[in-house]
Amino acid sequence: MKSTLTKGWRGFALWSGNKRKVRKIKELQKRHIICKEPFLINNRRYTGSKAKLIDWIKDTIQNECKSRGRIADIFAGTGIVSASTLPFFDSIIINDFLFSNEVIYRGFFQKGRWFKKKVSEFINRYSKIDTKKIADNYCSENFGGKFFSYNDAKIIGKIREDLELERNSFTSKEFNILLSSLIYSSDKVANTVGHYDAYRIKKDLKDRFVFNSIQPIDHQKKVKIYRKDANELIHEFETDILYVDPPYNSRQYSRFYHVLENLTQWSKPELFGVALKPEPDNMSEYCKVAAYDQFKDLIENAKAKEIIVSYNNTYKSKSSSSKNKISHEQILSVLQLKGKTIELSKEHRHFNAGKTDFSDHKEYLFITKVKN
Ligand SMILES: C[S@@+](CC[C@H](N)C(=O)[O-])C[C@H]1O[C@@H](n2cnc3c(N)ncnc32)[C@H](O)[C@@H]1O
Repeated sequence: MKSTLTKGWRGFALWSGNKRKVRKIKELQKRHIICKEPFLINNRRYTGSKAKLIDWIKDTIQNECKSRGRIADIFAGTGIVSASTLPFFDSIIINDFLFSNEVIYRGFFQKGRWFKKKVSEFINRYSKIDTKKIADNYCSENFGGKFFSYNDAKIIGKIREDLELERNSFTSKEFNILLSSLIYSSDKVANTVGHYDAYRIKKDLKDRFVFNSIQPIDHQKKVKIYRKDANELIHEFETDILYVDPPYNSRQYSRFYHVLENLTQWSKPELFGVALKPEPDNMSEYCKVAAYDQFKDLIENAKAKEIIVSYNNTYKSKSSSSKNKISHEQILSVLQLKGKTIELSKEHRHFNAGKTDFSDHKEYLFITKVKN
């Protein structure tokens, strides 16, 4: 009797242990931690990303817009809208003023010579490295035990330093693929809620970093990539379709993603405060009181046949940083001056810091047929 019972419990322990293991594996795969599948462009956490709305946006552009030649995505963020609409157009402009986003667009979209073997060889170098033996560096000294575990921060810093030292041995496409891969791999294991305004206070952060490659997008289209202020860039091109998705609240993207910006620029600035941010840089006027004037100026100067603007109604938010700087009525009035405008909407839950009332939460698309 005793032995049967013991056997039974052992069996149960084994069974439940396996179940735990399966759960763990699934969880790690979900977070791409043990999955060696390359990162796709949307495998990224990003405030305001249109990843969950992409089918609706793509279908709307296809159904409501006549033009098919040129499209411009001038606040491109993750680049998901560019990637999804690219197949329907001959040429695309992709712009965002963050350094990390520019490198990511170049890694995924830019044409140029690159050798898969060379990229894999560099990545594989770090697969069996003993992180405990890596010397301290800028990344571990600043972010170790905070945004990353101490050992993860050491390997991230070492890869970034090696990449800089060996920069001349790579083509620019290879360099951008490798740096984008480091950005995606680091972001995957960051001890944050998705942006770098704060980290979770934890004593025993686990080492989880795996250096994994991105999957560059194979295409035959004309792509132009910029890292410019959208209001400056707008004077420099003509397009058929202009997609506009600026920030609408006071949360500055350069501050939210400062760790990725730091990793990309690698100028090792002095950092300040609990969140270890550098001196402010790249502060968007769209996140300030001037937002409405910026938007008006952008639309007035746009040389496009059709303009599509994404908008959501977080202006009702109780959190002041989530409150919209431009109202629905202001958007509509500016667009109506430019041409006949229609408005589509969809229920959608947005990221927020916990104070936003989600009832009646909507995502909008304004479509303007520009007057001749
Ligand atoms: C709402 S997000 C865009 C999200 C994007 N559509 C996506 O699906 O990932 C707004 C973007 O505008 C960028 N940005 C803010 N101000 C800018 C400016 N003045 N010029 C260019 N980009 C700007 C931010 O860096 C951010 O990536």
